[in-house]
Amino acid sequence: MKNLCVNLKKETDLSYPIIIERGILDNIENHLEDRKYFLITNDKIAKIYANFLSKFNKARTVIIKDGEKYKNLKTIEYILNKLLDNRIERKDCIVAFGGGVIGDMAGFCASSILRGVDFIQIPTTLLSQVDSSVGGKTGFNNKHGKNLVGAFYQPKKVLIDPNVLNTLPEKEFQCGMGEVIKYAFIERSCGAKEYFNLFELFEKNNVNELINIIEDIIYACVSLKAAVVEQDEKEKGLRALLNLGHTYAHAIEKISNYKISHGQAVLAGIKMALKASLIKGVINENYYNFGTNLIDKYNLAPKLKKLNPDKIIDIMKSDKKVKNSKINLILPRTAAQAALFDDIDELLIKDSLI
Ligand code: NAD
Ligand code: GLY
Repeated sequence: MKNLCVNLKKETDLSYPIIIERGILDNIENHLEDRKYFLITNDKIAKIYANFLSKFNKARTVIIKDGEKYKNLKTIEYILNKLLDNRIERKDCIVAFGGGVIGDMAGFCASSILRGVDFIQIPTTLLSQVDSSVGGKTGFNNKHGKNLVGAFYQPKKVLIDPNVLNTLPEKEFQCGMGEVIKYAFIERSCGAKEYFNLFELFEKNNVNELINIIEDIIYACVSLKAAVVEQDEKEKGLRALLNLGHTYAHAIEKISNYKISHGQAVLAGIKMALKASLIKGVINENYYNFGTNLIDKYNLAPKLKKLNPDKIIDIMKSDKKVKNSKINLILPRTAAQAALFDDIDELLIKDSLI
């Protein structure tokens, strides 16, 4: 078992624990208080984890359809109505049981229903265990893009059971690995007290061996994320580092009509960010080769057809980091560091597409 805390002491104390423990689902009563819980999940997870769901009141369980395409206002309204139909009160607590889609939407509902009720995260995908369940970004998609409507709203606790990864499809595991590898490239810039040396971990282990050390990986990633969020909860600066590779990735995902998964696109995006760093002289050839070889070792980055540079740039212009219509990029710097660069010209982006 590994525990840590996200320390967010502001006007009110928003700090919360993250507990990583095999078998939490079997012992969930040890982690719940004497209050009413409203569980939100999807139909796919509800089937696989029917036993776990049976520990919660059926009328207070909201099951939505599975998939990113349902991460929208219509589903939010459905959830809110179900919660109100079943008389949720201010002192009650919402449980987000699922991957990032469930976590983001359940968190948003918690932030807004009755002007805010508590919620806890029980993430069930690798991506949500290493990233999205921590840090309080909640929201949903609309016709203008992904996650453009939402709120910063921190959970009361995050309960991570690595055993649930046993039922996760391989593609979803790979998707989570995109975010995990991202943490290796930004580790030294996160301001965490511990240094995990994720690079070394990846050099020593093959992709099929990673599951054996998954608790260490999850602990390292959430520790790095907690450190970043503690310093910059609302993404005024440092938190943007967590978007390494993401500006390229969002464009790649959109161009592929979302056939390429987010994690794979992030890995391709990190390779492109490495190339942009090399061209700008931020890193040398040795670090570039080291970085690209590390990503290639896991063979998780997608094989891309030649990308249309104008289309990519057009999509990149709707990125949340765009300032005064200029694209900003997080770029890797040597030895597990990264920084935001606001002097990015379009030629650099075109030259960095791989
Ligand atoms: P997801 O929630 O869609 O889950 C992926 C798939 O795995 C789904 O089909 C789901 O039903 C299934 N699944 C989940 N757990 C399972 C399990 N244990 N066994 C079998 N199947 C399981 O996708 P995701 O990758 O977890 O999350 C992606 C979402 O997270 C996106 O909407 C993204 O915008 C969001 N996100 C949010 C943050 C944040 O900080 N809030 C960060 C990164 C990503
Ligand atoms: N996953 C990006 C963030 O939480 O800021």
